[in-house]
Amino acid sequence: MSNEKNKSGLTQQEAAAELEWLAEEIARHDEAYYREDAPVISDAEYDALRQRNEMLEAEFPDLVRADSPSKRVGAAPSEKFGKVRHAVPMLSLGNAFADEDVAEFVGRIRRFLKLGDDEPVAITAEPKIDGLSINLRYENGKLVQAATRGDGQEGENVTRNCETIGDIPRMVKAEDFPAVLEVRGEIFMSHKDFAELNERQSQAGAKVFANPRNAAAGSLRQLDPAITASRPLRFFAYAWGQVERLPADTQMGVIEAFGRWGFPINPLMTVCNGVDDLLAHYHAIEEQRATLGYDIDGVVYKVNRLDLQERLGFVSRSPRWAIAHKFAAEKATTILEGIDIQVGRTGALTPVARLKPVTVGGVVVSNATLHNEDEIARKDIRIGDTVIVQRAGDVIPQVLGHVPDKRPADAVPYEFPRLCPACGSHAVREVNEKTGKADAVRRCTGGLICPAQRVERLKHFVSRNAFDIEGMGDKVIQEFYEDGLIQSPQDIFTLAARNERSLKKLKDREGWGETSAKNLFAAIDERRNVSLDRFIFALGIRHVGETTARVLARAYGTAEAFLDAMQAAQDDASEAYQELTNIDGIGNVVADAVAEFFAEPHNLAVVRELADQHLDIQPMEAVATDSPVAGMTVVFTGALERMTRDEAKAMAERLGAKVAGSVSKKTDLVVAGPGAGSKLKKATELGVEVISEDDWFTRVGG
Ligand code: IVH
Repeated sequence: MSNEKNKSGLTQQEAAAELEWLAEEIARHDEAYYREDAPVISDAEYDALRQRNEMLEAEFPDLVRADSPSKRVGAAPSEKFGKVRHAVPMLSLGNAFADEDVAEFVGRIRRFLKLGDDEPVAITAEPKIDGLSINLRYENGKLVQAATRGDGQEGENVTRNCETIGDIPRMVKAEDFPAVLEVRGEIFMSHKDFAELNERQSQAGAKVFANPRNAAAGSLRQLDPAITASRPLRFFAYAWGQVERLPADTQMGVIEAFGRWGFPINPLMTVCNGVDDLLAHYHAIEEQRATLGYDIDGVVYKVNRLDLQERLGFVSRSPRWAIAHKFAAEKATTILEGIDIQVGRTGALTPVARLKPVTVGGVVVSNATLHNEDEIARKDIRIGDTVIVQRAGDVIPQVLGHVPDKRPADAVPYEFPRLCPACGSHAVREVNEKTGKADAVRRCTGGLICPAQRVERLKHFVSRNAFDIEGMGDKVIQEFYEDGLIQSPQDIFTLAARNERSLKKLKDREGWGETSAKNLFAAIDERRNVSLDRFIFALGIRHVGETTARVLARAYGTAEAFLDAMQAAQDDASEAYQELTNIDGIGNVVADAVAEFFAEPHNLAVVRELADQHLDIQPMEAVATDSPVAGMTVVFTGALERMTRDEAKAMAERLGAKVAGSVSKKTDLVVAGPGAGSKLKKATELGVEVISEDDWFTRVGG
């Protein structure tokens, strides 16, 4: 290796050492973040590590390591999946549906093993996860291959995709880890992640998935591992394939070893004795089914002793020593009586199936989502059809499709309304500028003249992260809106005064009384004092979530400055509009949405009235653009004596600087206190300016 220093100021040898350190360090943080859910550094610090790794790799391409973090996420698309022949076939399980089937399963085992009546046979019980099974091959602790089940003999090579899944260890360092081990288990997606993914997909006009299982399978079988990496996949280990030496002589013992080695294992697995015990555990798991947060479709029983498993062997394609006790189907068929269109806060029209009530997995279902216009067309779902309805855990029930044979002769294709059912305004599908494709969602163009949007906006206005008015939930808003008590946000703040003058007092309304009315007025009063960012978020401007609201609040500082600027920004040739798009974190989509909102005279009037007459809006400290450190990337290291780390960070950010967690070529300034170590050293090596805490105060002026 050459000793010449390179662009980064490092020799080959130093760079190799640092890349090795970065690979380990990033893997350690991945582990803390993905598996322990307990990151030890901030996202920014983590990004800085990755950036540093990327930079060094670009400079020293020969030093890119096989275990480089850059190969784990965002790697280039693979060729089509290769085929993998399983060293040990991946079999399926026989099914049990009724309690008798379970008794029969246990009886069969006892007979086969010729067990006496008083000889117990321990059997494990665990949830049957509804995802897709995977074989993970480890050699000398390293994940070398991941394959789907395929036909049981041959599966698809999805190694690179599995490497991006946080739940799956890429390297196991335990001393007792076998030299060759194939861990088998299920890849799945949680209900919450599934709903969020579908929401994102729908917003982007992309495919929405029918259920978490499809979403998991679709996400894993991506040719581009970067897409898999962006999908929140999870894993439970429950079986094994080829193995050099097992760590225990029972099913439970081996699974516990998997747990010790860092594989996620299901916490509901237990060892049972006898049929009654198995059934009790089955019902216990079934009871938790709706609250687990992921789909399961039964309970799997396995003979615990591995020597007995071996004696029992296999019948055709499934083991004699295991069985899946399935839950009652969560699918049912019923008649689609109508399609209702709901209008959301931003005007999105969502089709909801009105169903002849039917019991699905023990719950009566009379509504189900139909996702959007394209989904109805794709599935050709018509009113009057017999449809298949699925309920999965706490996911909103959905219509999977129709039964062609049962279609009434007069059923006609469904025509999605072109006019908003709530206000009659045109409902349109915007074209995504980037993709050129029509948005999956049709939206009402009526804005605040649309009663549906008005009431949804009111609900948003008082919601927890906005005005957070206690005692004023969705139901109260709906009721007050319908009775004409509250039509627009400012009415909330005049409610008490109007109540004084009114003959029909709030306390006399059904469900209300003296105390609850008084409490509500007090809760409203308490919120007259509001921070600018909450205020902006509460307005419910499209694309302006909490983070964007905070960015805007910081940029403009006071309500007056914000409103004046927004009034001027209606014209997109204006300086004010330019300024808006110049804010770091505000792109054209947000700027247009904000400008459009304020271009509506009614909106501007409401916001002005709120600000001038009803509220005391607290200013937000603005980010300086003219400070001596504006635009700089600053790293604080060592002990700080005049401020805490958080204070230092907040101060630097207020002064327009970015604060990073580690030193890189991009760092402009390092503020080092006593005890500063590697970061100081790196800064000196890279030639980055280093100053003391006192210097910092002198530089920023106090
Ligand atoms: S054991 C030889 N345990 O069910 C049997 N399978 O119908 C190995 N599955 O292909 C499988 N949860 O995809 C086992 N806790 C669990 C399971 C489970 C889900 C799936 C697996 C398998 C299918 C068999």
